[in-house]
Amino acid sequence: MSWFTEARFGLFIHWGIYAAAARHEWVKSRERLTDAQYQRYFDHFDPDLYDPARWADEAAGAGMRYVVVTTKHHDGFCLWDSDLTDYKATRTPHGRDLLAPLVEAFRERGLRIGLYHSLLDWHHPDFPVDLHHPQRDDQEFKAATAGRDVAKYADYLHGQVEELLTRYGRIDSMWFDFSYPGRGFGAKGREAWRSEELLALVRRLQPQILVNNRLDLGTGDFTTPEQVMPTAGTVGAGGLPWESCQTLNGSWGYDRDNLDWKSAGLLVRMLVENVARGGNMLLNVGPNARGEFEPRAVERLRAIGSWMRLHSRAVHGAGPAEGLVPPPDCRYTRRGDRLYLHLFTWPMRHVHLAGLRGRVEYAQFLHDASEVRFHEPADEPGHHYLAVPQDHLTLQLPVQRPDAAVPVVELFLTH
Ligand code: GLC
Repeated sequence: MSWFTEARFGLFIHWGIYAAAARHEWVKSRERLTDAQYQRYFDHFDPDLYDPARWADEAAGAGMRYVVVTTKHHDGFCLWDSDLTDYKATRTPHGRDLLAPLVEAFRERGLRIGLYHSLLDWHHPDFPVDLHHPQRDDQEFKAATAGRDVAKYADYLHGQVEELLTRYGRIDSMWFDFSYPGRGFGAKGREAWRSEELLALVRRLQPQILVNNRLDLGTGDFTTPEQVMPTAGTVGAGGLPWESCQTLNGSWGYDRDNLDWKSAGLLVRMLVENVARGGNMLLNVGPNARGEFEPRAVERLRAIGSWMRLHSRAVHGAGPAEGLVPPPDCRYTRRGDRLYLHLFTWPMRHVHLAGLRGRVEYAQFLHDASEVRFHEPADEPGHHYLAVPQDHLTLQLPVQRPDAAVPVVELFLTH
């Protein structure tokens, strides 16, 4: 688990033929598209600008330490050259395996590799027409497909997972998505996918791998709060590490007309918030159907990267500062004897840190290693300006806010 909690920040990639529709990766289900209607995206999928080395550069530049890529999403389309289906990249006009070069490019830059794999499959002839299936409202279709045998689908699922875990070398995490116990097609998720057997297969093929918690087994190596900012303690109960997955704009797949983009500043604050609460952040990009990260995504990754270039030691290998309560509008992260004060808003001159009197040997801004002077109540007996409790330490900040998405003060603790 140590690489995972050390990494803190990863890239999620949702990519498939839904990028051509460019209106969310659930488009087939949301718009009740039939296989025939959805086929146009398969027939025109030709990502001619695909260059995963550029994606890996953007991820590494943003300070990300791992990638999780959708090998197959709910629409059933496979990025790799599976022997078990023709519904795959190599049969599109592009004609090439998209997964192998991606794994290689990210690995080359030292990022760990995670594979997302959908448990749902809206293309497979034996996947039941359940509550999410695109044809759920088509009574005729439902009647005609009532005999679908989910056991056959499970064989296919297991077979594909075996391919993924035997063809691409060491895989660091397996990210199954998702189960909806009691709301499916009669069978519980774990019975339908034969989750225990699937998990055993994964562990046998890649003993070091981390597996997420969406197999309906009630647990996993880590938990995956989705598009929420969890409160420490509400997830990861039982001490499980957690990773919150977040979008840039609310959609995972490329979504051309979406205007819900988060600012770079908000994304940096979200990352800090995650680390301060003890979790990882898996930030998603949905590449377009030419195989590129769009400018709005690149701009944000680079802005995060310029902050990370100067502040990564407050993130990588850092975690919560147990027992310390930060001042209003601030967050703490801690790595060994270094405590990081992240200032979400800029105070006027002073910031008072409870419980730190006598515990700080030196303080500096992280972006430029310039000293931040401080005083403690006992330094100035009877000082009438500073009515602060005896256990406080007071930082003296400049009036001018440093030009960083989140300014950070690095405090060297004495113990
Ligand atoms: C969901 C969605 C999905 C996305 C994922 C990421 O369960 O179905 O489209 O891939 O979560 O967490």
